[in-house]
Amino acid sequence: MYLMKDIVRDGDPVLRKVSKKVEFPLSDEDKRLADDMMEYLINSQDEKFAEKHQLRAGVGLAAPQVGVSKMMASVLVPNEEDPEKPLLKITLINPVIVRNSVQRAALSEGEGCLSVDKDIPGFVPRADRITINYDDFDGNPQTLRVRDYPAIVCQHEIDHLNGHLYYDKIDKKAPFELDPSTIVLS
Ligand code: NI
Repeated sequence: MYLMKDIVRDGDPVLRKVSKKVEFPLSDEDKRLADDMMEYLINSQDEKFAEKHQLRAGVGLAAPQVGVSKMMASVLVPNEEDPEKPLLKITLINPVIVRNSVQRAALSEGEGCLSVDKDIPGFVPRADRITINYDDFDGNPQTLRVRDYPAIVCQHEIDHLNGHLYYDKIDKKAPFELDPSTIVLS
């Protein structure tokens, strides 16, 4: 079970490396990694559990954030209306974004990251809709199309696999300026 002490923080070089592709069949170690990453997200979204274990709530976790430089990331976007049916629950293996919409979107509150302790304010403009090619646990190629908040989360996690952090995309000179056509998601 991962706790906050297991989460690699900004400044560790693993967060700036391009991760290695995952090979199939998955090793037991890789299966465990996938399970443990998703378990962290589930635990972190459980208020009581999170408080007891001092977990910061997360909607995504990428392998480099637990010190493993492999192309694997878990995403768990909760559904406020029906907690039993998350908006997106997936582990992406070897994900590649193959299509980005021209339409841009950014979260009104900016983004945060379990690996970044300080708050870095500003909009993080991204594609509103994306198509991702990835491998499932059996190594079969899959395609995922997502939009709005789940698409932002997936882009944030896939960025981790390529050594990027969300604040890289904040305009340092004008952190709260956006192209007027950008959708602001609340
Ligand atoms: Ni992050």
